[in-house]
Amino acid sequence: MDIRIVGVSKAFGRTGALRGLDLEISAGELIALLGPSGSGKTTLLRVIAGLEFPDTGQVYFGNEDATGLAVQERQIGFVFQHYALFKHMTVFDNIAYGLRVRRRGTATEIAARVGELLELVQLTDFAARHPRQLSGGQRQRVALARALAVDPRVLLLDEPFGALDAKIRRDLRRWLRELHDRTGHTTVFVTHDQEEAIELADRVAILNGGRIEQVGTADDIYDRPATAFVMSFVGDTSAIPVGFDGHRPSFEGRAFDTCLLGPHRGPGLFYVRPRDVEVTAPEAAAITGKVRTVHRTATGLRTQISPGTTDTLIEIELDSSAKVKAGSQVGLRFLRGRLFGVRG
Ligand SMILES: Nc1ncnc2c1ncn2[C@@H]1O[C@H](COP(=O)(O)OP(=O)(O)OP(=O)(O)O)[C@@H](O)[C@H]1O
Ligand SMILES: [Mg+2]
Repeated sequence: MDIRIVGVSKAFGRTGALRGLDLEISAGELIALLGPSGSGKTTLLRVIAGLEFPDTGQVYFGNEDATGLAVQERQIGFVFQHYALFKHMTVFDNIAYGLRVRRRGTATEIAARVGELLELVQLTDFAARHPRQLSGGQRQRVALARALAVDPRVLLLDEPFGALDAKIRRDLRRWLRELHDRTGHTTVFVTHDQEEAIELADRVAILNGGRIEQVGTADDIYDRPATAFVMSFVGDTSAIPVGFDGHRPSFEGRAFDTCLLGPHRGPGLFYVRPRDVEVTAPEAAAITGKVRTVHRTATGLRTQISPGTTDTLIEIELDSSAKVKAGSQVGLRFLRGRLFGVRG
């Protein structure tokens, strides 16, 4: 089912958690909400679920205006970061719970449905266990089976793997993607882990301060970041303030050659990725800088250089064979970068 969020604002006291937010989610899509802590991800999920009501704006489920619907009327499956399974119930009873309270079928029919779900989340042999006898990843799979049991129209997942260690997270992420491809539920997945968002989702919505900065595929977000925030949020960047003469950007009055990506053509901040800067002899480049730090990484060298007379640090990635020394003066060549207006 399509979900459409139109102009939704929600404040808690003076904090504007959501500020005029628009988002369209297609039926069967798996979309990730990615953003820093406090950007409004959980609030947006709760507004979609009907656990929170917007101050202004609408939420549509298909053509139906669901804005005023109570949570019970929305047919939502919800998995929280720390999902509280019923401790005194077995895995089987946890999954059956929603079906029983809604009287969805006879005991035999419910048992059959729970059996299918156990198979789907690969926990058939664990039906008789209690939550305390499961690993964290297994518990989250039970939580997911429980959310799926009532045939939700929409599946909402709020950092469901947040508490688990990196390796298990990666496995569960792939597993969830496969599960989604088989079941095709419209799914909204909250995370603040960009790798998780990009690997898992069809599209990623980047939130910042209660607004959406960009919605797009991994390629859109990485290769065509719409704002300076998106550019610096997904991957490392450095920025320097530049002027613009209509053709080339300039730094501290000296124009320099670069491949300018993106539409902005004017003064602003020039953003570069660590791999897109070359270090040369000082006399071979328009811009020079002082090497502040150099350290070895798994793939080469990482160095921080402050350009011109500034204290700004530019992060650069070099081959391990590169000859750079802390304290020395070097030339900087920016292969490509993106200009954003200061408010952009
Ligand atoms: N019930 C509440 N009462 C008061 N303020 C709230 C409430 N819920 C959220 N907020 C505030 O609204 C803003 C957005 O919170 P939200 O929980 O949506 O962020 P988030 O993106 O999920 O962050 P995180 O990644 O830390 O989970 C924050 O400033 C938060 O303090
Ligand atoms: Mg949250």
